[in-house]
Amino acid sequence: MICIPVTSRTNKEALHAVKRSCRSADFIELRMDLIGGKHLAKLMDTARSESRSVKIIVTCRKKEEAARSGKAARPQSAVKNKDEKMALLKEAVERGADFIDIELAEGNEAINELKTLCAKKGGRTRIIISYHDVRETPPLTKLKEIFHQCERYRPAVVKIVTTAKTFEDNLTVLNLIPYARKRSQKIISLCMGDKGGVSRVFAPLLGGYLSFATLEREAQSAPGQFTVHTMKQLQKLLDGKFTEPLSPVVSLRRLPPKNFVLLGNPVGQSLSPLMHNAALKKMGIEENYSACCVQNIGGALEGLRGMNIRGASVTIPFKVAVMEYLDDIDDDALAIGAVNTIVNDNGRLIGYNTDWTGLMLTLKKAITIKNKTFAVIGAGGTARAAAYGIIREGGLPVIVNRTAEKGKFLSEKLECPFYPLSRMDNIKADGLINTTSVGMYPHMDQSPVKEEVLAGYKYVMDVIYNPLKTKLLREAEAQGCCIFSGADMFVHQGAEQLRLWTGIEPPRALMKKIIFKRLTKSE
Ligand code: ATR
Repeated sequence: MICIPVTSRTNKEALHAVKRSCRSADFIELRMDLIGGKHLAKLMDTARSESRSVKIIVTCRKKEEAARSGKAARPQSAVKNKDEKMALLKEAVERGADFIDIELAEGNEAINELKTLCAKKGGRTRIIISYHDVRETPPLTKLKEIFHQCERYRPAVVKIVTTAKTFEDNLTVLNLIPYARKRSQKIISLCMGDKGGVSRVFAPLLGGYLSFATLEREAQSAPGQFTVHTMKQLQKLLDGKFTEPLSPVVSLRRLPPKNFVLLGNPVGQSLSPLMHNAALKKMGIEENYSACCVQNIGGALEGLRGMNIRGASVTIPFKVAVMEYLDDIDDDALAIGAVNTIVNDNGRLIGYNTDWTGLMLTLKKAITIKNKTFAVIGAGGTARAAAYGIIREGGLPVIVNRTAEKGKFLSEKLECPFYPLSRMDNIKADGLINTTSVGMYPHMDQSPVKEEVLAGYKYVMDVIYNPLKTKLLREAEAQGCCIFSGADMFVHQGAEQLRLWTGIEPPRALMKKIIFKRLTKSE
């Protein structure tokens, strides 16, 4: 099992790290000595709402046992003294953390006080008793003595971490794992330091309770930590589960990744291959873009790494499901909660959302969004992208949905008003954006709203691009509204994908021409 320590120095960064860590780890460790105590409640709530299964460890590392990374000075503790530390750990118990970590060196009184509180609270929170040697690895006899001192408290887990000065130190520390297991004691035992990486990889294989890894290399909380991505690959390799190529990180590094795919189900009607292939040709890029009807999105992503594919578009029904398989997700996509674009960066898959940028570019070409109100019809992924973009541009979204529960949920999350679709008449807004599929080919005689309602809006946009002019847009035009077609959004979201994959500005005018020509022809 893998634990990601959250060590950020600001609340905002820590919240972001918690969200991302919950997607790829089994445990997160909130290092409150680095983050600062006043954010504990928010961090725990965020972790719980991101994942029910990820376990939370709350730690307030003693200064003397806090490791430094590389040549950097030992980090300043954000927690002033032992009283503050105890109060924090007690708060973690009150809030139902899965584990608290307390150093053996904090002594009998502190450990017993926390044990009593955990028992009083029904045993929901369990205790890790830890020992860290930030200078060296003591001999095995000494480590066993320390282990016995920790074990005396009957903790859920004993943690003994030393610093490897030599590769042999790894063997000393790893010896503790079978020793503890024979005594039915769960243990985390590994070495820090550049020479300690071996123990980090082997500890879980020997039965160590967990190993630590970071989201990014720069985010190490202790020297020698691998990234989650590397750690998972190494473990798969050692478990014999890795099929060729041995590691995409190794095999793709020297080759520029090629080719692009659309992952969805169904994909037969998609116009993305037509548009992207024309654009790639114009950009002088020989590779091509093809549509893949996917059964298993996790398997498809392994295929991206293995098949040297530079980028993917993701469409229905995988925009949310794909997120758990990615190595990183950009901030906007994370906030929206959906990914429609993947960049394969030397075997590292990074998720983006260009739906919201596509939509915003379409509107911003003609109007200013700041201080304008938009009724957003729908409460799915596209509605989230639209509302997110409006807020980012300084506008105000109003969520309008058929199912009140879903609409209210989204409006509460975005802190904006909600109206049931049946009460649209009561809304006063500048613009209206339809994000539902009502009116899409072949149901071209349908519209999500009554024509009379449209007279109250200056701007009306439909994200549907087939037909080019939906019933909603035709009626809006008749009412004198300024209308925006989903085809423009489709072109911009695709162009933004190409920009992310190639770093080159794509030929938007050509892409638009091709899409409008095809859609006009089919009409
Ligand atoms: P996407 O991720 O593409 O936005 P989605 O998650 O399936 O797609 O969301 C579709 C939205 O369109 C939903 O909000 C849905 O309303 P409900 O929450 O009531 O299901 C809305 N929608 C779909 N068909 C609709 C219809 N016939 N009338 C009104 N709203 C509809």
